[in-house]
Amino acid sequence: MNYRHAYHAGNHADVFKHLVLTRLIALMSRKEQPFAYLDTHAGLGLYDLRGDQATRTGEWLEGIGRLWQATDRPALVDDYLRVINRMNPDGELRYYPGSPELSRRLMRQQDRVLLNEKHPEDGQLLKDNMKKDPRVAVHLGEGWHVPRALLPVPEKRAVMLIDPPFEQLDELQRCAKALKEAISRMRQTVVAIWYPIKDPRALRRFYQDLAGSGAPKLLRVELLVHPVDTPDSLNGSGLAIANPPWGLEEELRELLPWLAQLLGQTRGGWTLDWLIAES
Ligand SMILES: C[S@@+](CC[C@H](N)C(=O)[O-])C[C@H]1O[C@@H](n2cnc3c(N)ncnc32)[C@H](O)[C@@H]1O
Repeated sequence: MNYRHAYHAGNHADVFKHLVLTRLIALMSRKEQPFAYLDTHAGLGLYDLRGDQATRTGEWLEGIGRLWQATDRPALVDDYLRVINRMNPDGELRYYPGSPELSRRLMRQQDRVLLNEKHPEDGQLLKDNMKKDPRVAVHLGEGWHVPRALLPVPEKRAVMLIDPPFEQLDELQRCAKALKEAISRMRQTVVAIWYPIKDPRALRRFYQDLAGSGAPKLLRVELLVHPVDTPDSLNGSGLAIANPPWGLEEELRELLPWLAQLLGQTRGGWTLDWLIAES
């Protein structure tokens, strides 16, 4: 396990993923009934952008660094920015929330946050970072076991983020398998899989696997910062979202053109379509 998310925290892929996550949480919160948030590959929870690892890559400068400076932000960014503002009360951008911290801060008293991280050091840091919040449970185990270990949840409503490091060649296939498992255990689970846009051939196979997952509905959303065929580069990233809450598609159609323009490097772009349309 070589991957450490601290090198990449706040980059364009994190901004895209985390913004969509904030909208999922907001839309799930429209109903009073509680829901659970499950994070299979949770990372540390929060990050210091002035720390050694983030400084070495400087990736955040082209991600949250750009959004922080933007003056024309749409209202759909408010929840995300509110969390970051509260973490940086002096107005200087330094601390950045990972998916655990974002969800913890946005979820309600009646909701639960179930986090899993396998890296022993990062897992311990995650535990330390989350220990004051009684709604949060941290597991230090295998992320691919989360669907069968934790689903179905008693709340009967859940958002699950699947966000592996993509260090292993089979991780796209594992994501599709985890989706299938999650849906078979609790059909209405909102599952969001993050994936890198690097290798168009591997993605074609992944899309086929997703389309055969048995999910009732599956939305595909992608944000590009370089042309999709640029070799040896992270050209953007995608989220495949099973059972997206009503209203998400419209919100993303409003948000993505702005985000693509903000985060595009050699060329920004976005796509949104249904891999499985509602029957
Ligand atoms: C992309 S990062 C997660 C970032 C986090 N979800 C966020 O948005 O803030 C992937 C994480 O998965 C962890 N990891 C790698 N292999 C794992 C496995 N098999 N099970 C659980 N966690 C794993 C890594 O240590 C790393 O912290």
